[in-house]
Amino acid sequence: MADLESRIETLENKFCEVYGVSPETVVRAPGRVNLIGEHTDYNDGYVLPIAIDRDILITAAPSDESAVCLYSLNFDRVSVFSLGNIARDRVNKWSNYTRGVVQMLQRSGRKIRGANLAIQGDIPHGAGLSSSAALEVASAMVFQSLNDFEMDGAEMALLCQKAENQFVGVNCGIMDQFISRLGAKNHALFVDCRTLDHEAVPLAKQGIKVIVADSMKKRDLVDSEYNMRRAQCEEAVSLLRTYLPGIKALRDVSIADFKRYGRQLPPTVRRRAEHVVSEDDRVLRSVDALKKGGLTLFGKLMNQSHESLRELYEVSCRELDALVDAALKIPGVYGSRMTGAGFGGCTVSLVADDAVEDFLEKVPVEYKARIGVTPTIYVCTPEGGAEVLADGLECPGSEIDG
Ligand code: GLA
Repeated sequence: MADLESRIETLENKFCEVYGVSPETVVRAPGRVNLIGEHTDYNDGYVLPIAIDRDILITAAPSDESAVCLYSLNFDRVSVFSLGNIARDRVNKWSNYTRGVVQMLQRSGRKIRGANLAIQGDIPHGAGLSSSAALEVASAMVFQSLNDFEMDGAEMALLCQKAENQFVGVNCGIMDQFISRLGAKNHALFVDCRTLDHEAVPLAKQGIKVIVADSMKKRDLVDSEYNMRRAQCEEAVSLLRTYLPGIKALRDVSIADFKRYGRQLPPTVRRRAEHVVSEDDRVLRSVDALKKGGLTLFGKLMNQSHESLRELYEVSCRELDALVDAALKIPGVYGSRMTGAGFGGCTVSLVADDAVEDFLEKVPVEYKARIGVTPTIYVCTPEGGAEVLADGLECPGSEIDG
């Protein structure tokens, strides 16, 4: 994997080559992995993700056109759109994340100038590490940098989520955009997805690593199943309202409430609701455990989260289960679970520093023996959220003023 500095240099050189002018700004926005709190964000609940050291970089300069030109280094493709009428690109689908963000910026009343952009990323695509949210947040950052408007982190995350919901057409919650924008280096971010209150919880100095293992299973069913889960959660809320009139979302249902009234729900809806209600409780206990250095308890809660996602929410699959099983056989692994929407993608494991080598050696062998595929493993460090890395750049060989 190329380091950040050399990736930025390649990106800037490419920008100069494609557009023949110097870029004005470079931004980065990271991907994410969620430690615990799965399928809770759209239920107004709690999540605990980290931003990871894999990101999207965008470099850009304003242009005199009333259009935006995007060049993707990963795809070696160009996509251009007019600022007067932003339509979806059915061929270069990757460009829709930026198009959606620009449309939402315009709708929020910001005047956006024409611009040329070059984009490069090293977040594996389709693995459930939120490359889309990172591209949205990087796009919002770059247009903020070029157009100089005020927008705080939470507002930007919400705007990017709106772009994904309304322009791209994926009905996601707020977690991915929020952590990509507001992640904190060496910390996990505890987020209340209703109020957007958040708190950074230290992860460094605990003698642990966060290991992400990609099952390599494509997440085919994810969109339709995701929407179905959301609808089932809404159904649970509307049925439970008969007994708990004040509730707005499953976040408002306590474990005690659920014990009392959960049996009134039809079986499938009951299982979905039970996952969400218990997962919110697990997040609160995990945060408390992490603050006290209680890694054993934290790991146990991660394992319970996986079981609940497998048995009650039914979003795991044999590949993810095999990865979790393989991880839990390694002494020094505190906990392991699927992460993200499910139906493929990645697991996340909390691993003692001195068990990392064992993990890297044994998990791929065991997974390959069971599933027939070699997983990709990433040892992740919690990174900060999106940022402007540099502005006022010069193409190589261009004259230096003064
Ligand atoms: C996807 C969505 C998030 C969240 C997770 C499940 O990553 O984009 O908003 O709902 O699934 O926790």
